[in-house]
Order: sequence, then C-alpha cells, then structure tokens
Amino acid sequence: MTTTPATASLLSHAESVWQAVAPALPGFTVEVLPTVDSTNTELMRRARAGQNAPVLLVAETQTAGRGRLGKSWHSRPGQSLTFSLALPLAPADWSGLSLAVGVSLAESLHPDVRLKWPNDLWWQERKLGGILVETASPTTASGHAPRTLVVGIGLNVNRPEATAAVPPVPGALPPMPPAGVAELVMGVTAGELLEQVVPALVRDIQRFETDGFAAFAARFAARDALHGRAVVLSDGGTGVAAGVSAQGGLRVRTADGQLHEVTSAEVSVRPC
Ligand code: BTN
Repeated sequence: MTTTPATASLLSHAESVWQAVAPALPGFTVEVLPTVDSTNTELMRRARAGQNAPVLLVAETQTAGRGRLGKSWHSRPGQSLTFSLALPLAPADWSGLSLAVGVSLAESLHPDVRLKWPNDLWWQERKLGGILVETASPTTASGHAPRTLVVGIGLNVNRPEATAAVPPVPGALPPMPPAGVAELVMGVTAGELLEQVVPALVRDIQRFETDGFAAFAARFAARDALHGRAVVLSDGGTGVAAGVSAQGGLRVRTADGQLHEVTSAEVSVRPC
C-alpha cells in the first residue's frame, strides 16, 4: 500500500496522541484506517462484541458516516477529520455528556468557537463540525460489564462546498453555509487538529465521569450560541432560548412566559 503525505501526517500525529493519552488511559490504542463505513458504527460493533479497551479510530474516508437524529454525515476525504473515541465509562449520571464533549472540543479549537445546543460546533453561525455520542452495552453472561461510550467527531478542516440551504424546520432561518477550522486556525491540518483536541477530550470525559455535567455547565454557558435567541423546534414550537438545565436540556421560554425543557429536538434560530 502506498502512503500519501496526508496519511503519513495523520499517522505521525496519531502516534503523538497515543503518547499523550496512554499514561492516563491504560490499554489505550490508536488506529488509522484509509476507509470504514463509519468510525462510530465500527466501535459500536466492537463494544457490543465485548471489546471495551479504550481506542481511538481515525478514518480518512467514511462510506456511511452517521450524524445525530438518524441523519447521514458526509465529509470530503482530505478536507475533514473524522474519528471516534471509545472507552468504558461509569458516571453516576449520563445527563449532559454530549454537551460536555462539545465544550471540550470548542475550548480546544478556538476561543471564538460557539456551541449550538446540544453540541454543534459553530463559528460565526456556521457549522464547523458535529458530535455523535452513543453508548453500547456488551452482551455478557453476567450483564455487569460497564457501558462503553463511543464519541464520534466530524470536523471540517477546510470549508466545505456550500450546498442548497434548506431551512431545517418551517419558520427557521436557512442555515448558513458550513465553515472549516482552517478559516480560524490558518493552514491547520487534520493531524494537527487530532492532536489538538483528543488529549483534552479524554481528560474532560474522565472529569465528567467523576463530576458530571456540573463541571461543564458554566463552560457551556460561556459558549452558548443560542442564549437569548428566538428559536423554532422541530415540533413547530417557538420561544426564546434561555440556557441549559442541570441535566443539559435546552430551556426555552415560550410567549406565555413559561420555561420548557427540551431534551431531544432539532433547534433552529428563527428570524427576529
Ligand atoms: C452531527 O452533527 O449530526 C454529528 C456528526 C458526527 C459525525 C462523526 S464523523 C466520525 C463519527 N462517525 C460517524 O459516522 N459519525 C461521527
């Protein structure tokens, strides 16, 4: 197999990630694949089969990348970074974990990166990347093995080509074209980004395991892109975003002054 310069760079940064993470995560391994259906799907398969050692799986190409809410995730080879991290985790409460992952990524990327609830990475109203958090329980006879967390991250390194902007829900503003991290961090490569975000991500997930979302609530608030904005939900409900609850739900104040908590929905900004 011939190794392209891009692959060689990814491999070398993957090695640095392993060196930075392995002391704090015994048994940690890193794999870089030229292609896979989806890094999340692959690690979920392994976890369900009982393989629960911590692993970082990076793919140059995904043939069936998955996004939140059952959507697909498309990324251009060489223009994006796609990876998943799997590790056994046993927090007392899982609420808010996907937001904590977003906080970690946003803080590692750039001070100007914002979070659109629950965990879209935004810069100037444009999506830089997305996060898919899943958990798997191994099929064991005893049933007592800890769950495996699989965190999948897709980052646009270079700005993707704009596609037709369709409002995600009626009444919402059409989405802005996506952005690339290299617009904020000039010339950054996929490998450099991997090294920039993964060690802190592992530390933050370990912090979440002991301290829960409470350790991330203020950090989320500092980057909350929706706070005070008029929003429309995928069920057609409207209101003004008012931060997140202690469980990580989006609080929305409706026209009658009531506060509602949204736990799963597509949320879009609507014109004022
Ligand atoms: C979203 O914004 O909807 C989440 C997108 C998550 C995409 C990443 S790419 C790496 C990992 N593998 C997948 O199939 N999905 C996640």
